[in-house]
Amino acid sequence: VRKELLYEGKAKKIYSTELQSEVVVEYKDSLTAFNALKKGSFAGKGALNLRMTALLFEHLSKNGVPTHLIKQLGPTELLVKKVEIIPLEVVVRNVLAGSTAKKFGIEEGQVLAKPLVEFYFKNDALADPFLSDDQALMLGIVKETEIPQLKTMALKVNDVLAKVMNQAGMTLVDFKIEIGREGNRLLLADEISPDCCRLWDKKTGEKMDKDRFRRDLGNVAETYQEVCKRLSEVLK
Ligand SMILES: Nc1ncnc2c1ncn2[C@@H]1O[C@H](COP(=O)(O)OP(=O)(O)OP(=O)(O)O)[C@@H](O)[C@H]1O
Ligand SMILES: [Mg+2]
Repeated sequence: VRKELLYEGKAKKIYSTELQSEVVVEYKDSLTAFNALKKGSFAGKGALNLRMTALLFEHLSKNGVPTHLIKQLGPTELLVKKVEIIPLEVVVRNVLAGSTAKKFGIEEGQVLAKPLVEFYFKNDALADPFLSDDQALMLGIVKETEIPQLKTMALKVNDVLAKVMNQAGMTLVDFKIEIGREGNRLLLADEISPDCCRLWDKKTGEKMDKDRFRRDLGNVAETYQEVCKRLSEVLK
């Protein structure tokens, strides 16, 4: 069903299909961090991230979050609805870590009283800067009515995802999603995997996500396998 390559990103390739309204997403084995300054890969990474994304998207859709997923075509290929991606990285934080902890001089691990939703401008040349709601409106990348819809969707994803991760023995520290427009409907798009979540083991506190790669903590492949195994058990 794949036709031509429309886009090659850092972790995935997008192909056209016979239908204008559908695309194929191929998951690659590559891994990047710090706006692609740091590059790596491991065999089987694409298949693991696809598996986790498919499991989580199916679960989210059963729990009231509409997603772009149509069906799995192969171990590294998903058929999805083509959407107009809103150029925002929508981030939800339950525990402070990463850039926001650093920005405010707060130690990583601070549990937040309520989930924090943040928008970053998806723009590699600008290194994905944080932006305010009004700045997003000023840039014309979202409509006024979409802002509360994006936040509601992000918080719903957080509720569902946090429960699943908890059942799988992990704390959902934070995550990033991408949302797209299909007509006047918003759909959860792109992926959810350890590439775009922070997951801490509930027992040991060990990091079980891309921070292992970012911070050279070792066992990157083993950790992605372990997260996939746990999610498969919880969501079977
Ligand atoms: N359903 C969809 N329809 C159209 N585009 C999509 C859909 N889901 C994801 N995308 C886009 O496909 C690309 C996936 O590739 P990948 O994640 O490798 O990109 P990337 O290198 O991270 O770059 P980007 O900064 O664009 O995300 C992203 O640009 C993502 O926004
Ligand atoms: Mg991406």
